[in-house]
Amino acid sequence: MTHTLVYPITAVHNAVGHLEVGGCDVVELVRGFGTPVVIYDEATVRDQCRRYVEAFGEHTADFEVIYASKALSVLAVEQLVLEEGLSIDVSSGGEYYVAKNAGFPPDRIFFHGNNKTREELQLALESGVGFVVVDSFQELDLLEELLAARGSSQRILLRITPGIEAHTHSFIQTGQIDSKFGFGLVDGVAMEAIRRSLESRHVELVGLHAHIGSQIFQLDAFRKAIEILVDLIRQAHERFDFVCRYLNIGGGLGIRYTEADMPSSIGEYVTVKVEGVREEMARVGLPMPRVLIEPGRSIVGKAGITAYRVGTIKEVPGIRTYVSVDGGMSDNIRPMLYDAQYEVMIANKADLPPDTVVTVAGKHCESGDVLVKDALIARPEIGDVLVTPATGAYCFAMASNYNGSLRPAVVMVREGEARVIVERESYQDLVAKQRPLRG
Ligand code: LLP
Repeated sequence: MTHTLVYPITAVHNAVGHLEVGGCDVVELVRGFGTPVVIYDEATVRDQCRRYVEAFGEHTADFEVIYASKALSVLAVEQLVLEEGLSIDVSSGGEYYVAKNAGFPPDRIFFHGNNKTREELQLALESGVGFVVVDSFQELDLLEELLAARGSSQRILLRITPGIEAHTHSFIQTGQIDSKFGFGLVDGVAMEAIRRSLESRHVELVGLHAHIGSQIFQLDAFRKAIEILVDLIRQAHERFDFVCRYLNIGGGLGIRYTEADMPSSIGEYVTVKVEGVREEMARVGLPMPRVLIEPGRSIVGKAGITAYRVGTIKEVPGIRTYVSVDGGMSDNIRPMLYDAQYEVMIANKADLPPDTVVTVAGKHCESGDVLVKDALIARPEIGDVLVTPATGAYCFAMASNYNGSLRPAVVMVREGEARVIVERESYQDLVAKQRPLRG
């Protein structure tokens, strides 16, 4: 097995020269479940969760690892994450609903979002959500109104925008000053949010939150964000006696999509976050809060691979060879949206030398529907099973019905057994919510 780094931890080349994951031959899986299919390796999801919990345990007993469910909001996967002892973050009423159905006790749910609706907040409050991460003054007012009407109180964190530009694609940077998220530090906005929360009769401000971006390789940006947050905590302590009991420093750890990617390890990332908080709190002479983090991509990204069937092969002489598969931007929009790079292999030719450079295209009516440019694979033929690894995060989560595509089936594998955890959509599903003009 040459590409262990971007594949699930159980991936091997089996005796018949096929890719095998979770003890299941990928070519057989495709025969049984069709294509495109997203295959999740249970062992890898559990392993990533455990790495986080163990890394934290080496530094502190007072922590919480919160799975950011936007990366993949699927019941069966959330159940694994729950079994591994993580909490969960949701960014909408829909994700809240899935998390609750997965069995998360509401008090372990963190509710995010820069524009939560009245209905979403009501739903969360009624079912006893653990923490609302408040993003704006309007939300603070709305919460206050809803809580006053209910005669109840609610623990909140305030989302702070620390003014950090993390080194990642601009679409997934979130900590910079010019951001739709959170309370900025300029003009004392964040301080004012702290003051108003502390004065509120119904919200109980227990801490702060910041998420500076996603797919981040350089840990210094997190360290800087912690320093800025702790300065705010110190000032709020001086002015209002504010005690920060929870400090949530978001997710963001990058993962390896290609062999060339060099992300930090979970251990290094956790060390920077926990020891960063410890050092900064010691600097300002205040007690250590509970340290919270919210990984999404690094929990499920590496656990998932997508398998397609090769349909057509077109050679444009002297320019390139297009290998078209039966999916594309409707199941993985990331290459088009963020210029994301992926590895490719042919699952039924795992042992053959990769000697052919091709461009892997989707089946959608757009020239931009290209999954991987200049991929080096074994010589492709019609009917081959083509796999893109590291597609476990933000792929199925952002899947669409563009061009009448059916969202793929999702299968979980473990020790030679495979089970469907999301059924493939059907043509009937495409019209199920539609109503004809007449009749
Ligand atoms: N917490 C908050 C408040 C977030 O907004 C996010 C991601 C996370 C945690 C989890 O971050 P992670 O550990 O996954 O980096 N669709 C994009 C990624 C968008 C990330 C949105 N927020 C992509 O495909 O790269």
